[in-house]
Parts: sequence; structure tokens; C-alpha cells
Amino acid sequence: PLLSEGRKRAPLGEVEGILLPSSTVNNWDQIQKFKAKDDDLLICTYPKSGTTWIQEIVDMIEQNGDVEKCQRSVIHLRHPFIEWARLPQPSGVDQANAMPSPRVLKTHLPTQLLPPSFWESTCKIIYVARNAKDCMVSYYHFQRMSQTLPEPGTWEEYFENFMNGKVSCGSWYDHVKGWWKAKDKHQILFLFYEDMKENPKREIRKVMMFMGKNLDEMILDKIVQETSFEKMKENPMINRSTVPKTIMDQSISPFMRKGIVGDWKNHFTVAQNEKFNNDYKKKMERTSLTFRMEI
Ligand code: A3P
Repeated sequence: PLLSEGRKRAPLGEVEGILLPSSTVNNWDQIQKFKAKDDDLLICTYPKSGTTWIQEIVDMIEQNGDVEKCQRSVIHLRHPFIEWARLPQPSGVDQANAMPSPRVLKTHLPTQLLPPSFWESTCKIIYVARNAKDCMVSYYHFQRMSQTLPEPGTWEEYFENFMNGKVSCGSWYDHVKGWWKAKDKHQILFLFYEDMKENPKREIRKVMMFMGKNLDEMILDKIVQETSFEKMKENPMINRSTVPKTIMDQSISPFMRKGIVGDWKNHFTVAQNEKFNNDYKKKMERTSLTFRMEI
């Protein structure tokens, strides 16, 4: 598989058995030494679980619903991505260190790889989880177009790799279970993509309260509108339209793709669904965490 200009996509590296972009692995020392602050807010997700969506919601709440303030820069620069380390850009850690507090930060790391200073701090964490089947479908399409990750292979191959945790950021199953457990020890608001789809205002209010804000109903309604999939898809500060094709080739698949619950039904065969469900039962049997695959 070759890039349009003939360069091969970089293979993933590994930290403690978890696959990660090799640029991240090469910067691991700086990432692990990152100093979190008590007034940081960390947004944490497994990839393709609604990170961008919750980022925009958090920013809208922080800016009291001021749309213009949320247009101050593209979303991936408003909230430093802690493990991002692609030269020649400044790393996520460098960006965070240069940012005045209170900071909002982003990570996809599983609990065991999070820089330890986060656990030592009293920072708030918002985790968004999305059902595994839709997450797999979304990740597959993302890997087709994202030139910073390996080619996903065929859907059949990807299906196996996802179930075996052989994707960047490791196993979905371990990630969600790890963060679900972590909320017993740390201040974590645990949200679900499916709940956000079902009743955005209810979930946005939860985020507002968790952030210690009190916005009136009209502003909440405005945030619901501005953070709808349709609105965000058209927003150049969000839809990655400014990202060069050599990083994201959106002619293959758009970054803001479908934004629905249940798209897996258009991808899973009956046999795959059965295989997935049997495996899922085993991997998820010891957790109280449950997901809705449709709403
Ligand atoms: P699909 O590929 O299923 O469309 P992340 O931001 O973590 O990379 O997640 C991307 C997924 O969230 C994509 O899913 C994207 O369309 C969806 N998404 C982004 N903004 C959304 C919104 N406002 N409402 C619903 N889904 C959204």
C-alpha cells in the first residue's frame, strides 16, 4: 500500500504490548514525564468514540456558548493531544506546556499508559465510550483515510485485528474496562456516545455540572444545536478540511463520516456478528459495564 506520492505508511510501534504510532513510541519518555495540573480537564476516549464531539461540547461550555470564541482555532489545536508527537510540529506535551491554565487536554491512552502525574493530581477526567461494533466500523474507515496509521486491510482482516486489540491504542475491551474501573478511584465523568445521541441536552447538562458551570437553558439549547453532527460536519474548525491530504485523505472517507448509532449493521455479516457476540461475551463477562449497540 502506497501513498499517492509513493511513500509507504509508517508501521505502528509498541509500548507494554499496546500498539501506538511509532512517533508516539519514540517520544515516550517526554510523554510519561508530562506534569498534569490540578485544574486540568482531561478528555479521554478510545479512538473513534466521539472525541471531537465531546471536545466541542466542553469548549462551548467553557466559552459560555460563545460560538466565535470556539472558532479561535481548529479543534485539534485548542486541546493538546498528549501523546501526539509528529515532527516537525511541536509535540502534544510541548503544546500543553506552552498553554495557560486552565487547560483542556486530550488522550487516547489506556489507563496503564497514562502519564502518572494525572493520577497524582486532582484533575477532572471525562471519558466517552462508544459501543465496540460502531467503534470498529468508524476506526476501519478512519484508517482507510488517515495516512498516519497503517492501511486497515480488508474489512474481514480488520474485524479480526480489532477483536484481537491489534490496532493503535490496543484493545477496545481493555480500554473501556480499565477506564470504567478507574472511575472508582478518580474524578471521572463516564459518558456514552449512544446516550449523547439519544438525548444530547441531558448529557451536555451532565458535562456542564461536572465542569462546575451553570449556564441557562437558552445557552444549553444553543450548545445542543451547535454540536449536532450536521453543524459540526460543516464547521471548518472541526471537520479537518484544513488538514493536508498527505495526513488525511478525505476523498477516501470523510472525517465527519456518518455520526450515527448502529452503522455496524451495514458492515457486519450475520456470521461475523455471531462470532463477535460470542467473543464479546467472554471479554466483557467480568465487568458491570454495558453498552447499547442500537438506540
Ligand atoms: P463515524 O465514523 O461513525 O461517523 P473521534 O472524534 O473520536 O475520532 O470519533 C469520530 C466519530 O464520531 C465519527 O463516527 C464521527 O462521525 C462521530 N462524530 C463526530 N462528531 C459528532 C457529532 N456531533 N454527533 C455525532 N457523532 C459525531
